[in-house]
This record gives sequence, C-alpha cells and structure tokens, in this order.
Amino acid sequence: MYEQVSHSLLNDILIALDPELKGDDLKHFYIRLGANFYAIHSLFQLLYGERRDFRLQMHKLVEVMAKQYRNRANELRNRDLAREKDHDWFLSEKLVGYALYCQEYAQGLKGMHEKLDYLQELGINLVHIMPILDGPKGRNDGGYAVRDFRKIDSKYGTLADLDALSADMRSRDMLLVLDVVVNHTSDEHEWAKKAKKGNKKYQEYYYTYADRKIPDLFEQTMPEVFPETAPGNFTWDESMQRWVMTVFNEFQWDLNYKNPAVFIEMIDIILFWANHGADVIRLDAVAFLWKKIGSTCQNEREAHLILQLMKDCCQVTAPGALFIAEAIVAPVEVIKYFGEDAINAKECEIAYNPTFMALLWEAVATKKATLLDIGVRNLPTKLDRATWLNYVRCHDDIGLGFDDNDIRAAGYDPQAHRRFMVDYYTGQYPDSSATGVAFGRNEKTGDARISGSLASLAGLETALLNNDAAAIDISVNTIILLHSMIAAFGGIPLLYYGDSIGTLNDNTYLTDENKHHDSRWVHRPTLDWEKAKRRHEPGTVENRIFTAIQRLIAVRKQIPAFADLNNREMLDVKNPHLMVFLRFASRGMYSRVLVIANFDTSPQTMNLRELDAVNLFEHREARELYSDRPISTRSGELLIPPLGFYWLQL
Ligand code: GLC
Repeated sequence: MYEQVSHSLLNDILIALDPELKGDDLKHFYIRLGANFYAIHSLFQLLYGERRDFRLQMHKLVEVMAKQYRNRANELRNRDLAREKDHDWFLSEKLVGYALYCQEYAQGLKGMHEKLDYLQELGINLVHIMPILDGPKGRNDGGYAVRDFRKIDSKYGTLADLDALSADMRSRDMLLVLDVVVNHTSDEHEWAKKAKKGNKKYQEYYYTYADRKIPDLFEQTMPEVFPETAPGNFTWDESMQRWVMTVFNEFQWDLNYKNPAVFIEMIDIILFWANHGADVIRLDAVAFLWKKIGSTCQNEREAHLILQLMKDCCQVTAPGALFIAEAIVAPVEVIKYFGEDAINAKECEIAYNPTFMALLWEAVATKKATLLDIGVRNLPTKLDRATWLNYVRCHDDIGLGFDDNDIRAAGYDPQAHRRFMVDYYTGQYPDSSATGVAFGRNEKTGDARISGSLASLAGLETALLNNDAAAIDISVNTIILLHSMIAAFGGIPLLYYGDSIGTLNDNTYLTDENKHHDSRWVHRPTLDWEKAKRRHEPGTVENRIFTAIQRLIAVRKQIPAFADLNNREMLDVKNPHLMVFLRFASRGMYSRVLVIANFDTSPQTMNLRELDAVNLFEHREARELYSDRPISTRSGELLIPPLGFYWLQL
C-alpha cells in the first residue's frame, strides 16, 4: 500500500543508508521493502511510536534487514524466489517432520550426515534440530537458555559444521528447522552480564525492578510455568541488586519487547539463522512475548503485533523462511498465532497443535473418541496459508490444555477428568499400564502435566517387562494408531526421535544433579542405535513399529487429500469409540479419503448408513489405502479392529 507518511520516511531512510547497502543486486530486497514498508511502519509505530528516538530505531531496523539481505547467499535468494511463486508449498502432503537432539541422536552436528540416511529411510524430509546454541552447562533448560545467539555450543560442533549439514540437507531435499528463543536469554548472556554490572542500557533489555512493588502487582495475575522448580515469576539478582522477571527458570531472563532495541536484536538473529540455511525458524514461547500488569502476561495483543512485525521483516529479507509458533495455549488462543489474515496480519505459517496432541492422549486413556471429536470440531478454522504441526510426543511434557466446556460436553467434570488423565499416565489408575511421570505439579491449583516416552505412556514398558504378548500388541497398535492420526489429520506430522522404534523411558536423568528435578528428561534419551538396527529384524517390536510408520508416511505422501487446505469434515457416528472424518482434494487420485480410527481395545462396528453423506454404502467395496486391500462394505457395517484405523478411498 502507498501512504505518504511511511513513504517519505522510507525515502529518508534510504537516502541516509550506507552506500554498501545499496546496489543492483539488492533489487528484490527493495521491491519487497517497498511492498511491506507500510505494514512494518504501522506496526513499529503502534509498538514504539511514543518514543523520541522512533525514527532512529526505524532506520536501524531497515539497516539490519538490508545488511542481512546482503549476507544472504544466492542459493537461498533463489530459493526465496521459487517459494514466492509456489507459495502454498508447505501445505503439501509430502512434508513429514522429525524432531531430535543432535547430540543424543548423532553425537553432534558432524555425526548427523550419516544419520540422515535413517531419516530418509523413514520418509522424513523436515528435521527440527533442537537448540544447539551456546548455553551454560547444566543451567540451560535443554538449550532454551541461550548465552550467545550466534554461537553453536562447542559440544555440538561449529557454525561451519552447521553450514555443511544444511548444505547436505538441501542436496537431499530435506528442510532444516532451528530454534530462536525469542522470549528470554540465559542470565549468562552478555546483555544480562552487563545489566548485572549496572549498565542501564542493558537493564532495559529486561524487566528489572529495585523493589517488590511492581513484581508483586504482576504476580497477582501471572500463573507459574514451573511451579515445582521455579515458583514465582521474579528472581532477586544479588549483583544487580534488582528483581528481574524470570517466567520460566530463574536463570532465564525475560526480554523486554517494550524496548525496540530488543526487537531489532532479535530480528537480526532470526535473519542470521535464516541465512545459515534454516528453512523454518521455531519461535519459542511466543505466547509470553508481552507482559502487562493485571494480565496473565500470555497471548497479549502486542505479542501478536511483535510476531506480525517479525514476519513482515523476515518477508523482506528471507521470504522463503517460515515461522513455527510454539504457543502451548488454549485452542482459541493458539489459532491467533497464524495471524488474523493472510496478507495484512500474518504471523507464523506453522503452529504446534497442542490441543490435538492432548486430545489424542485423552482418547487413548478413555478408549473413546468423544472428547477428541468435540475438541477437534471446536478448533477454530485457521487461515488458508497456515498449517498445523501435529505431534504425539515432543521434548516437553503433555499439558492437558483442552477446553473445560468441551470436557463437560463429553460428560466429565474438568478437574476430575484431568486428575484421571494424570493418574492414568503415571500408572496410578487401576486399569493402566502406562509408566509416565508427573510434571509441574502445582499444589496451589492442583494442576499437573505428564512426562514419559510415547512407548512407555502407551504401556510398552510394562508389557515387555511382563512378557505379555497381548499387551505388547495393544501398545504397538496404540503407537501406530496415534501416528496414523497425525499423518491423516491435516498439517505436518512431526515425529519425535526414538518413537519410531518404541524407545522407552530413560531414568538416567534421576542421577544427574542438573536434571533430576525436571522429569521431561525421562523422554530425552540417547538414541540406542543397536535397538534401531532391530527395525530390520522381522517380528521385533522395533520392526513392527518402524515399518508401520514408514508405510504410513509413504502412503500419506500419495494422498493429495491429506494436504492441509482446510479440507477436513468431521462425520457423526453413534459409536463413541470411533473418530471419523473425511479428507478431500480437488485434484488427482485419492481425492476423497474417509479416515476411521478405533480407540478401543476391542473391535468396533460402524453402521455405514450413518454416513449417507459420503455415499460409501453405494459401493460394494472400498479400497483401504494403508493396507492396500479392498474392504467389503456389502453388509452395511464395517468392523474396525482393536486400536485399528482405515484410510478408505471413496
Ligand atoms: C518452550 C520449550 C521448553 C522450554 C520453554 C522455555 O516451551 O519447548 O522446553 O522449557 O520454552 O524456554
């Protein structure tokens, strides 16, 4: 959009810009800057318009974007142009992701090269390498407390190693996802160190206070993220003689985005990693970006404005790079991290789908799809150019963030039902063989979350211990069923390392002084490559799980209806154990696929007459795509095996 005020400001900035940052090869940069500047200026004005140095800050922002464009390799610039043309590329059914710690998976960045083969064997083409940046030993929250945003921790390798890996991945058509921890730094970051020494400029990078007056006001409405290990949201810093806001651990200092210098530093860092080959940047803890007294300090409107501004700036310099929102919040809030509209107020193209994840675990525990069905129906519709990251497990705990109204509609009391879930997955419930561990118990609110590896939560640990073949079947089938759901739902399935070979809990964290208090380490093991080898031995648990997931991925990639184009219709069926939905596409073969999942441990029947809408009953048989076998529909009833699923081509 053309608008005089922003245009004349842009002109002034361009005239004053370093001659180095002008020149012919910056053509695409300037075209994009012109197209986005009105939005960038408006957002910057909304956030920082009151400041006397507003124009100076605006100038600095443009300079950072231009400088990083100058640094952007031609190969990446060309990739940007190609992605601009094919702008829905990331909604494709062909994408399948995997999250791993490079140390635990491959002993560091160098080791990753040969271990990419394993991922390709499985069908993976998007890899999230968990945080690799320099952080203090021990006090680093699994890499989420960063000491230097531009340096790779030497225990993982060097920047040159990462560049080599990202080049290798590009040559294999694999996408690289890296984290940028935008909400906080380690208390050993140089900004924090300067703040501790009394440097006012850097104290303004954080929320620091001489006394408890303001912290106490904040505390009245701020929940606690780690109530057991880091109660409260402020920490007294002895050397600074001030309180500092630390929403997560006491060594993670929250950045103050009311200061434009913080925003400019972070966009510089985001673009730095985009220039080092990150196709997708995972923005950590985005719900927390803006703090306001009297609020929960989560999901504030300004947090969204910051993300919109980050997106607009990134589009100018590195438009091919996408953002993932890590916002583990209520369904009505998560959806907002895609932005309000796809052109003027876009934020992150991809967002974790924590609601679906938690609902899946609820369905496994109750053996019923009732709440799952209600919860999915009540997920707000998302933007067209936006997609979910659907996952069963990740490096974090399982939070039971489904909507209270949905729980009631399913016939349960919200508090009692959440307690049941925690009891179930920690093996306290009589009927449960799960061996999870509680996480983040909050004595004040009674809340708790769940840690544990997928296989252990699905009962495999207990089943193997008891050498109980029937119980092993149940847990293997549960693991496969859950993966079938994330493969078919719509969005990018994100597998967690170790899950495709049934990795169990790892209790070694209990003897590590830096880890024993944080049960999330129970599901962050060193990958056992001897166990992984058994994926090739028919009959082993590893082989059963691996080959099934491999097949799920291969079949998913053949089904255009599984691309994420807001093309899912939930279908009503009377049997409460079943979840049934239709996926459809306008193109090609397999353009309508009926997905049926049975969460019960007994076979269940589905009356096809209930599905008049899809005319399934008109046919005598339907092709089941996963098994590639015909299934007779002649009797008017379908029998779905225990913890089984069908992908029926219509
Ligand atoms: C994100 C990460 C989590 C970390 C937190 C604080 O939620 O996924 O592991 O503890 O941010 O950085």
